[in-house]
Amino acid sequence: MGLFQIKPDIHYGANSLDILRTLEIEKVFLVTDENMVKLKVINKVTNILKSRGIEAKVYSDVKPDPTDEEIIKGMLELSACDPDCVIALGGGSPIDACKSMIYFTNQIKRAIGQNKKPKFIAIPTTSGTGSEVTSYAVVTTKDKKIPLSDSEMLPDIAILNPEFIKTLSPSIIADTGMDVLTHAIEAYVSKSRNLFTNTFAIGAIKTVFADLVSNFENPQLEKERINLQIASCMAGVAFSNAGLGINHSIAHSLGARFHKPHGRLNAVIMSEVIQFNARNKNAAKYYREIVEALGFSPKEDVEGVEILAKAIKMRASKMGIPNSLSELGIPKEQYFAEMEGIIDQIENDMCTGENPRRFSRIEMKQLLTDLY
Ligand SMILES: NC(=O)c1ccc[n+]([C@@H]2O[C@H](COP(=O)([O-])OP(=O)(O)OC[C@H]3O[C@@H](n4cnc5c(N)ncnc54)[C@H](O)[C@@H]3O)[C@@H](O)[C@H]2O)c1
Ligand SMILES: [Fe+2]
Repeated sequence: MGLFQIKPDIHYGANSLDILRTLEIEKVFLVTDENMVKLKVINKVTNILKSRGIEAKVYSDVKPDPTDEEIIKGMLELSACDPDCVIALGGGSPIDACKSMIYFTNQIKRAIGQNKKPKFIAIPTTSGTGSEVTSYAVVTTKDKKIPLSDSEMLPDIAILNPEFIKTLSPSIIADTGMDVLTHAIEAYVSKSRNLFTNTFAIGAIKTVFADLVSNFENPQLEKERINLQIASCMAGVAFSNAGLGINHSIAHSLGARFHKPHGRLNAVIMSEVIQFNARNKNAAKYYREIVEALGFSPKEDVEGVEILAKAIKMRASKMGIPNSLSELGIPKEQYFAEMEGIIDQIENDMCTGENPRRFSRIEMKQLLTDLY
């Protein structure tokens, strides 16, 4: 039986925050990070709540790649607050941290016979992880990034407001935009792909190809900025339903060990991963379909794969994204010394199951060596 799930109501555009003026809520727990507080981005939300006399407790102790410790600390504050509405505001890190807090708190509450669930609203400030519409959250422990997936982590409401992404720096635009592209391409070739997810994925891919470099070069351009916010969300819908692949498994494993931005890691390895997966005939055909949708006319699948890999590299280098893991600053000795552990994590990552191509440890070791 197929299941295509689109859960949150998505409020988008300039007036999208108005939904906060209409909800019947009394007490809000808001999860964010320090930058959002410093840049006063959260004030756009807290001012509306204040004007309605709604109490809001802000938890901002979330760092990029949220850890189990940050989540446990947040759970204690969430329980003490006992809100009827939880708002996650930020990039993927605060949204994922918030999802994990809600998920584990609900599990504990259920076990002791309490079934009250607060309304959950996600407001993304990057474009991005698409976390506002996915059932995924990624939690980082000492040297592992663990993706969790449960429909309980799907927000009830997502708010895409262009105001919230105005303060993004070009380098964050580049990293998070390439994350969107990775989500959409991995969803398009995944084992659980279907016509619903393909349509969302192709829409996101076309938008990233059309608008990301311009958004990077000129962040104040409004149309491009808004398009990328929607592309991020569309890619999220695609991969939440179709899954991802080894591009993400590798990025998770390396991200937890070497602390590089998630989107940048995805971008650095994407062209090689595409060529690696294209040894599977179906995957090669799907990559060709992607470049055809982008307006190219390859004569064979293999040519389509080459065009896609090159087009991605070209865009990445235009935005100053390094070409290899060594250029990204991953220390050689540690990388090769920890190779077996890295491969273990890639094999066990939830995203690997949806990858279009199976591989042996020797093949993965070769890919990781080539990526360096
Ligand atoms: N849940 C999912 O479906 C999913 C999918 C992909 C990745 N992830 C996870 O999400 C995390 C990455 O999220 P991300 O790429 O959105 O970055 P992030 O949330 O880690 O933020 C990166 C940096 O950008 C800053 N930032 C965010 N919004 C800003 C704004 N509007 N203006 C200025 N600065 C801003 C943050 O303060 C932070 O310093 C990783 O942990 C990754 O593994 C989750
Ligand atoms: Fe991602």
